[in-house]
Amino acid sequence: MKKWSGRFKKKLSKSFIKYTMSITVDKRLALIDIICNIAHCNMLGKIGILNKKEKHKIVGILKRIFKKIKNKEIKWRKELEDIHLNIEKQVIKKNKKLGLKLRTARSRNDLSTTELRIWVKNKIRKIFRKLKALVEIIIKLSSKSKKIIMPSLTHFQIAQPIILSHYWLCYKNMFYRDIVRFKNSYKLADYMSLGSGAVSGTSFKIDRIYLSKKLRFRKISSNSIDGVSDRDYVIDFCFSCSMCMLHISRLCEEIVIFSSKLIDFISIDERYCSGSSMMPQKKNPDIFEVMRSKAGIVISGLISIIVIMKGLPLSYNKDYQEDKQICFNTADNLVKSVEILSKVIEKIKFKKNKLKRASEKDFSAATDLAEYLTKKGIPYMKSHKIVSRIVSKFIKKGNFREINKRDLKKVTSNKYVIQFIRNYNTYNIINKKTSIGGTSIRQIKKEIKRSKKELKKLTI
Ligand code: ARG
Repeated sequence: MKKWSGRFKKKLSKSFIKYTMSITVDKRLALIDIICNIAHCNMLGKIGILNKKEKHKIVGILKRIFKKIKNKEIKWRKELEDIHLNIEKQVIKKNKKLGLKLRTARSRNDLSTTELRIWVKNKIRKIFRKLKALVEIIIKLSSKSKKIIMPSLTHFQIAQPIILSHYWLCYKNMFYRDIVRFKNSYKLADYMSLGSGAVSGTSFKIDRIYLSKKLRFRKISSNSIDGVSDRDYVIDFCFSCSMCMLHISRLCEEIVIFSSKLIDFISIDERYCSGSSMMPQKKNPDIFEVMRSKAGIVISGLISIIVIMKGLPLSYNKDYQEDKQICFNTADNLVKSVEILSKVIEKIKFKKNKLKRASEKDFSAATDLAEYLTKKGIPYMKSHKIVSRIVSKFIKKGNFREINKRDLKKVTSNKYVIQFIRNYNTYNIINKKTSIGGTSIRQIKKEIKRSKKELKKLTI
């Protein structure tokens, strides 16, 4: 029978219990539930609702239950619906008189969201550390890749030569932004809802400031309705996870493509590839494909929680209960993906010669030739036209160096064109990109240095 069964004459239907219970999911909050209970009892002691002896006794009971949970000695009961009622029952089992006082001045509405906030905050701290480690690895990869030239792509067509370090620094930026985003998500979760009661607060003279200090919240929710209604922090957390997974997925997509023999820029460590049960020759980049699909699952969690919330009236609605499953799944997928990505990217081998060759294909120096002409006094639109005419005429050659001088003269008599073609090399082209954020080696060195400092400074 349920604790509020005085209100009901009939016994709850088994299918109702099975369908609406959440213990199978929220048992993950068990230890946090104990921590909240201890803080609550200490607070009840402070304001005189529990006398000193009672407070010590109940805190002692809670601590023993904490140990039992850690040792997996407790069997959770579905008919008790959720983790809060299960733990309350455990206390009552040990001391009925005290156990019946546990829910004084609070509701599961303010309790469940407070616990989820604590869980999200803890998870963000962990993600924060993992992402910082990932960014460190990427910076290291960038440092090691200063001599590798590769093509940059736009529209997935060869665009301009760059240094591999520059490519890594792009992903560094993306994951750095993710860390900042998680830092902000943390702030949104860092409001304590406990003390909001069911919806309107409580007539007991509770000390929320004391509670928030005990539970390590920086802020306290300032409106009891909002306290039990607000799930913005869940949505925001899921959004941060989704953005991060989106970045991971884009990197995975590139790794899959670059490792295909169609392109063949990289090779992936065999330990992270699979074969085919039918095609004996196959080496498949499974791990990156799985990660790519996990991004879809994480994003679907974000969509789910947004859709769940969008039509709900204030304040607490049982629909919220699903927030936990979504948060847990989302975080698990993200953490695992970040961990595995950190391991595998270090093992990727870049095929230097192939990358260099590709970076010189498709007239990738065309923009540099046009810019060179403009520096010699020709307006850029005109330079663009001159170069595009040469490209069009010799499209099959793929590279200015392959054009013989006599043929070139038939298309243009511009001496600067000839000068450029005679003198350019890919390193020079790259090292001319000296504007802030450009791919020149000087800029890259600066950016690596700046990134290391910036990362060190970033704390939660
Ligand atoms: N298990 C519920 C949840 O996670 C706890 C709150 C239930 N409150 C209630 N009034 N039924 O949302």
